[in-house]
Amino acid sequence: MLRRPRRLRVNKAIRNLVRETKLNVEDLIYPLFIVEGENIKSEISSLPDVYHFSVDMLEDEIKEIRELGIEHVLLFGIPHEHGKDICGSESYNYNGIIQRAIRKIKEIEPNMNVITDVCMCEYTSHGHCGILTEDGYVDNDKTLEYLGNIAVSHAKAGADMIAPSDMMDGRIKSIREALDKAGFVHIPIMSYSVKYASTFYGPFREAANSAPAFGDRKTYQMDPANTNEALVEAELDVLEGADILMVKPALSYLDVIRRVKDNYNLPLAAYNVSGEYAMLKSAVKNGILSEDAIYESVMSIKRAGADIIITYFAKDLAKIIKDNK
Ligand code: PBG
Repeated sequence: MLRRPRRLRVNKAIRNLVRETKLNVEDLIYPLFIVEGENIKSEISSLPDVYHFSVDMLEDEIKEIRELGIEHVLLFGIPHEHGKDICGSESYNYNGIIQRAIRKIKEIEPNMNVITDVCMCEYTSHGHCGILTEDGYVDNDKTLEYLGNIAVSHAKAGADMIAPSDMMDGRIKSIREALDKAGFVHIPIMSYSVKYASTFYGPFREAANSAPAFGDRKTYQMDPANTNEALVEAELDVLEGADILMVKPALSYLDVIRRVKDNYNLPLAAYNVSGEYAMLKSAVKNGILSEDAIYESVMSIKRAGADIIITYFAKDLAKIIKDNK
C-alpha cells in the first residue's frame, strides 16, 4: 500500500515528531481569587482544587505556580459584602482587594505577569457589570468612565496587563485613552472581545459572589447562537486598540475561536471557563474519566486556534506537560 498513515504512529518519538499542535506551559494563564480577611486559604465549593486566598496567604501559592513554570496569573478580587455599592467604588480604591493583591504578588515574584480582570460585577451591590439607569438597564457610556478609572488603578498598583470583561461598547478605546493619559502607554489590553451570555459561568459567580441580583447579562453579553457578531466584536476591539483578543467560553465555542483566528492577526486567547472546568474536574475526581481527558480537552482549544488559554487546569496541565516530556 502506498499510503499508510499508521507508519507515523508507530512509536512515541515519531508521534511527538509529527504532532501538529503542542500545548506549552507558556500558553497558560491561571486565574486566582483573592478575598478580604487574613489567614484564608479555602477551597471553593463550586471549583474543586481551586481556592480563595487572602492577600497574606499568597506567597506559597505564587511560588508554587512559578515553580510549575506558569508565568501568568489573572486576578479576581472579591470585596467584603458591605464594601459593595451601586457604583462599585471598591473596584478603583487604592486599598481595594485587587490593588493590594497586585502589590503583594509583585513583591513576592516581580517576574510574575499579573493580569487583572476589569469589571464591576464583583463590586456592585446589584451584581451587574456597570452603572444602572433608573429602570435597571446598564448605562453604557457612564460605565466607560468607571472602567477607565479601574484600569488605571490596577496599572498604578503594578498590573502588567489589563483584561476588561464587562462587554460595554467602546470600552477598549476608552480604557486605552485612560491608560495612555495616566502614562501607562506600555500596558497591553487583553480584551474579552467575544464574550457570550453563558450558563457555564455559574461556578465562577458562586466563587466570586457576583451573580446579578435581578435579571441576567443578556443586554451586554452575546447571544450564544451568533458567530457573525463575534467578528463584529473582534473587529471593533482591533480598531479600538486591543492587543490580544479573547473568546469566552472556550469548549462550546471552538468554531468561534477558529473563525476569529482566521480573520484577525492579533494573538488570540480563549477562556476555559468555570463550568467547563467543574464538569471535567468532577468526572476525573469521581473516576468517570481518566486525567488524560484534561489534556485532550484543553488541547482542543489550542487546536481550534487559541494561542493563549486561561484555565483553572493550568497547574494540573503544567504537571501533565512536564511528565510527558
Ligand atoms: C466578570 C467575569 C465573569 C467571568 C470572568 N469575568 C463572570 C460573568 O461574566 O458573569 C467568568 C469566568 C468563569 O466562568 O470562569 N464579568
